Amino acid sequence: MAEPDGPAAGAGRRLATAPRVITVPKELRQLTAGWTGSGQLVGLVPTMGSLHAGHMSLVAAAQRECDKVVVSIFVNPLQFAKGEDYLSYPRRLDADLALLAEQGVDACYCPQVETVYPEGFATRVLVDAGSELWESAMRPGHFSGVATVVSKLFAAAGPGRAYFGEKDAQQAAVVSRLAKDLDLGVEVSVCPTVRDPDGLALSSRNQLLSAAGYRAARCLSRALIEAARRFAAGVVSGAELSAAAAQVIDSEPGVRFDYAGVVDPADFRPVIEANGETRVLVAAGVEGVHLIDTSLLASPPRASR
Ligand code: PAF
Repeated sequence: MAEPDGPAAGAGRRLATAPRVITVPKELRQLTAGWTGSGQLVGLVPTMGSLHAGHMSLVAAAQRECDKVVVSIFVNPLQFAKGEDYLSYPRRLDADLALLAEQGVDACYCPQVETVYPEGFATRVLVDAGSELWESAMRPGHFSGVATVVSKLFAAAGPGRAYFGEKDAQQAAVVSRLAKDLDLGVEVSVCPTVRDPDGLALSSRNQLLSAAGYRAARCLSRALIEAARRFAAGVVSGAELSAAAAQVIDSEPGVRFDYAGVVDPADFRPVIEANGETRVLVAAGVEGVHLIDTSLLASPPRASR
């Protein structure tokens, strides 16, 4: 594994070579089948583009652990409900490709919508767990859209590992369940959230905020910190801790409180009594942009200023 082309050499590689850009699944399958056929481990980083440091940390993890890395860029219409921000979701493929080139990513899969969902497409993948909770409740059909596109991305890329961010913890749980239940042979790796210096979790959607909205959005990470602070002070009631997180968001002017949950990380159900494993989930609407965040009660975000 310490061969020049192996993962050890890949750690932190910056070759400034453009990734091979692929737009059809058959071509991607041929490429990655060649790699896996010669014993190389393929890592996939699924994204919707507008790449930021959070995505690049997933790419870096994939490069450390895999021989070849594919990044997919596809804004998936199936995971947006009517009235959500599918059309306004930020898109900037050229800048994304430049970033991936700088990072020495091997291939970028960026199909057109008609390629992924051609005329007559009629299949939906449904992960039937926790389907009434939090993001599932707020965005009906969202996780089915995610599970469907991730199934197609896994089928096209044939990865041994796939990388997702902790910020989308419920999504990561859905994808892990999908990979396990369907024996897809993909190890799902969940990587820590990357934050700005004030604690705001990086998200492509942050680009849709004004400077004032961006400042207001920091109430999400402050809510996580407040719940963790109370927990550290001895409060274990799930209801009390979620109310404390909710209060922080609710008192931020111009922010719509969506939910705050103190949950068991195994099934995302609210806990009566919190412990060191318990996760806090928060969501809010800022200037019409839906934002989420999460952390374990025992390891809250750290704002550096
Ligand atoms: O997290 C995202 O960016 C998307 O939900 C994903 C996993 C790329 C599926 O479209």
